[in-house]
Amino acid sequence: MQEQIASLKADITARIAGTDSIAALEDVRVAALGKKGSVSGLMKGLGGMSPEERQVMGPALNGLKSDIAGDIAARKSVLETAELEARLAGERVDVSLPVLDHAAGSIHPNSQVMDEIAEIFAVLGFDVAEGPDLESDFHNFTALNIPEEHPARQDHDTFYLSPNAEGVRKVLRTHTSPVQIRTMLSKEPPIRIIAPGRTYRSDSDATHTPMFHQVEGLVIDKDTHLGHLKGTLEAFLKAFFEVDAVTLRLRPSYFPFTEPSMEVDVQCSFADGNVKIGDGNDWLEILGSGMVHSNVLKACNLDPDVYQGFAFGCGIDRLAMLKYGMNDLRAFFDGDLRWLRHYGFRALDLPTLAGGLSR
Ligand code: DAH
Repeated sequence: MQEQIASLKADITARIAGTDSIAALEDVRVAALGKKGSVSGLMKGLGGMSPEERQVMGPALNGLKSDIAGDIAARKSVLETAELEARLAGERVDVSLPVLDHAAGSIHPNSQVMDEIAEIFAVLGFDVAEGPDLESDFHNFTALNIPEEHPARQDHDTFYLSPNAEGVRKVLRTHTSPVQIRTMLSKEPPIRIIAPGRTYRSDSDATHTPMFHQVEGLVIDKDTHLGHLKGTLEAFLKAFFEVDAVTLRLRPSYFPFTEPSMEVDVQCSFADGNVKIGDGNDWLEILGSGMVHSNVLKACNLDPDVYQGFAFGCGIDRLAMLKYGMNDLRAFFDGDLRWLRHYGFRALDLPTLAGGLSR
């Protein structure tokens, strides 16, 4: 009997050492210690033994059982470590390898330009604010000093949604200016935000699409003046067009939500069909701006005798077309892969002022 135990132990120990996976080890465990296993079988025999025999064999079999259990546990931990190492080796990524040049995706020029603008204004201390594409009449018009019956409403070619049960119609926002209202209603001045995003008007030709993009800017504080507006726009346009200097022309204009209002032109040349920003004899209209109208401040519960500020709004698609030399806005939204491959930007080249906006 003692010999039988010794040889069984040698056999099981060898099989444990020979396993190469947790599953194989489990098979060995079941074959030895399971209900119908070889060790369990011997243990069952204890019942039929004489008390003297049992006194010897009992401890011997228990010793066998716990030795085997110990061997199995030790082997298990070795196998687990090996399996983990194999998995880690299989999943190894060499982070020092260069990014594949033929990586499929690219950044749309529009997204690129929005990232560039956000980066420029972040350096100037502006946060990015957002509002919904589906706007209330109040935020899109009324609070911006465009009451019902105001002729400016007709200029906007607005998409209206069907009225709800109360007869209230939402609109697809016609500009990013409603984000001014949302920001002033939810934040205490000083406020410095830009709000890039989608805008909608029922209009379509080579330079207009029903969905397009704008970026809004808003600064509200106790002593903000027109000089700040001009300086901010100069800093922005210089950085955006990556030129050493820009000359701006502020032209008196009219927007219901600003007083005074002005349109901003940037000096440029149109030699050989290419627009060059920064010098030349031509002017390119680039954005609308002005000092926030006191009625707008009041609609946002701000006291115009305490707070003033400036705002501006600018078409992003147009900026992208100017900067990257695209002449048909409709191609922006065609989803043509050839166009995207040609005009797209590499996904990991994030624009930074220090490293270069567009490179
Ligand atoms: N919201 C105007 C538009 O879509 C653009 C604009 C003009 C925005 C003047 C402004 C501003 O914030 O001050 O045509």
